Amino acid sequence: MGYSTFLSPGKIGTLELKNRAVFPPMGSGFPNLDGTVSKRLIDYHVRRVQGGCGMNIVEIASVHYTSQGPAILGAYDDRFIPGLSELASAIKNAGGVACLQIWHGGRQTSGSPFNGQPWAPSSIPCPLICETPHSMTIDEVKEVIASYGDAALRAKKAGFDAIEIHGAHGYLIDCFLNPYSNTRSDEFGGSLENRARFGCEVIKDVRSKVGKDYPVLMRMSASENVSGGIVLQDAIEAAKLYEAAGIDALDISQGCYGAMPYTVPPYYYPIGVNVYNASQIKKNTSIPMIVAGRITTPDLAEEILSTGKADFISLGRIQLADPDFVKKTAEDRVDDIIKCVSCDQGCVERMFQGFGASCVFNPLTGREGEITVTPAENKEKVLVIGGGPGGLEAARVASERGHDVTLFEKTVKLGGQYLLAGFAPNKGVFSDAAMHMGYRAQKAGVDVKLYTTATPERIKALNPDVVIVATGSDPAMPPIPGIKNANVFEARSVISTESYIEADKVVVIGGGLVGLEASEILTEQGKKVSIVEMLDEIGKDLEMYIKPYSIGFITKHNIPTYIKSKCVEIGDSYVLIDREGEQLKLECGAVIMATGARSNTAVADMVKELGYECHVIGDAVKPSKVLDAIWAGNEIGRTI
Ligand SMILES: Cc1cc2nc3c(=O)[nH]c(=O)nc-3n(C[C@H](O)[C@H](O)[C@H](O)COP(=O)(O)O)c2cc1C
Ligand code: SF4
Repeated sequence: MGYSTFLSPGKIGTLELKNRAVFPPMGSGFPNLDGTVSKRLIDYHVRRVQGGCGMNIVEIASVHYTSQGPAILGAYDDRFIPGLSELASAIKNAGGVACLQIWHGGRQTSGSPFNGQPWAPSSIPCPLICETPHSMTIDEVKEVIASYGDAALRAKKAGFDAIEIHGAHGYLIDCFLNPYSNTRSDEFGGSLENRARFGCEVIKDVRSKVGKDYPVLMRMSASENVSGGIVLQDAIEAAKLYEAAGIDALDISQGCYGAMPYTVPPYYYPIGVNVYNASQIKKNTSIPMIVAGRITTPDLAEEILSTGKADFISLGRIQLADPDFVKKTAEDRVDDIIKCVSCDQGCVERMFQGFGASCVFNPLTGREGEITVTPAENKEKVLVIGGGPGGLEAARVASERGHDVTLFEKTVKLGGQYLLAGFAPNKGVFSDAAMHMGYRAQKAGVDVKLYTTATPERIKALNPDVVIVATGSDPAMPPIPGIKNANVFEARSVISTESYIEADKVVVIGGGLVGLEASEILTEQGKKVSIVEMLDEIGKDLEMYIKPYSIGFITKHNIPTYIKSKCVEIGDSYVLIDREGEQLKLECGAVIMATGARSNTAVADMVKELGYECHVIGDAVKPSKVLDAIWAGNEIGRTI
């Protein structure tokens, strides 16, 4: 497929972009704690420009002191201009286009940084922030409107080519637009026209300060996805009003904090999740449309553009995974583009955990100025044992640096647990990504030996200088009476379809991600499933963006759950559990164990005994998330 539309120039107002790729605004956690620009933020943006991206929209920058927080960019005071100027210059000097997203968080931000209450149209708390907001007076409404214009002018003075007003995701402008969060009875509440007035006044104030030719974009949620929130038809009407107020382009997303996953849609949403909404808004307006949300291949981007559904494509997480997305597309190297599986683990979840956004598959993201991968000083013979994600990453990086790398994989497949994870509902992309890691390792020159168990003889025959052990983990089977019964299966084998469960009634022991995925598969097969969990909550280990789906599935299917409960005995047709001292007998024909994992340490012990230099990584050290395995593989690959 050709990518002529995607790679062709496009215009937003007076601004010309060299192609249709946009790096959308993504709160990174990289700014300094005081809201000024850091070198880390600059390096991260410049890297995406070097990868060929048409326009970088820099993340949320606060317009007013009532919307601030640690490591959130500031644009509410002139003292932020020098740093913003450095960032804009760096993006432009690298050949890019710099746009700044200006933002007020409204009720979706805490009041504690300024020792007050968050400001909002009405005194209705956000379900996530849980702080009762202060209902803004008319004077305060006017003050904040003016602060958007002032911030836009600062961005212009700092050298940004454009600004984007954040009118999406439940933040202040969107909060005004939605009747569930705006119950005002003045000219800013009531009818849709009144609720959109705040956004329109912001646009007009910005326009009056930056001038008629300066490109002004607006991001909006085409659907709020909460009860009482706007739907597409409302968004179309609001978009028309915003256009009339003077914006040059719209950037379409969806969701808010009450429907958080929609804002950064995980793998259980369809690809191109916002494209239909964008196309409908485009039909009803006459300004360029940018669309975001699970557009991760050049083919999909080209299809959206060439069929006129949108004019520009936001490539967010995929450019965290692979900053060279555009370059590789232009150079006909599409197969080399690193996959983004929409897991949210390494990017948005990590950012909210305070580590800064990055990517499971690319630990260099966010550490561009810190890590350089250099050729190996001495070419060594490296043996990697284990072809899961950690082993493949270590092998690829070491091989790219010039080492002579052999990889032993005892099965016939590369990708390890990640390949199997792809058998879980909606997670086929995980298998693709696992296979792609194998492809990249082999392309880098790794000599992959499948169906090859690491024996002392084989290791001695190869006589490596360094051995990297990435043998992963096996399911942990706790010593419960009856655990060896024929009706007991481990959850991974249910997910991978290695085990077929005949029984109609099933008890799943363990309510973490693996247990929940097995439960979902079995429920879809028509079985009556119950879940037993030792902790005080089902899905306690699940990430913020993944949890709503899994918990939603349990709720929707009325799956009985037993928390604070321990399995104490397994019989042929029952499971005995102890729930805080109370014994319960659950009837079932099969028991599925999802009780965690144990490191495979035997190979590491053997290699050490043979006297080779040995590095153990990933689950073989301690069962953990795939990010830890891949990042450990990357680190050892670039340091040996
Ligand atoms: C780490 C992270 C931070 C984000 N922060 C913002 C933000 O500051 N402003 C915004 O409008 N959207 C934000 N988003 C949403 C993205 O701009 C984008 O719409 C979303 O990731 C979907 O696009 P994608 O599938 O291409 O990643 C963020 C997303 C991520 C992953
Ligand atoms: S961490 Fe997951 S969702 Fe985020 S960019 Fe990487 S692959 Fe995509």
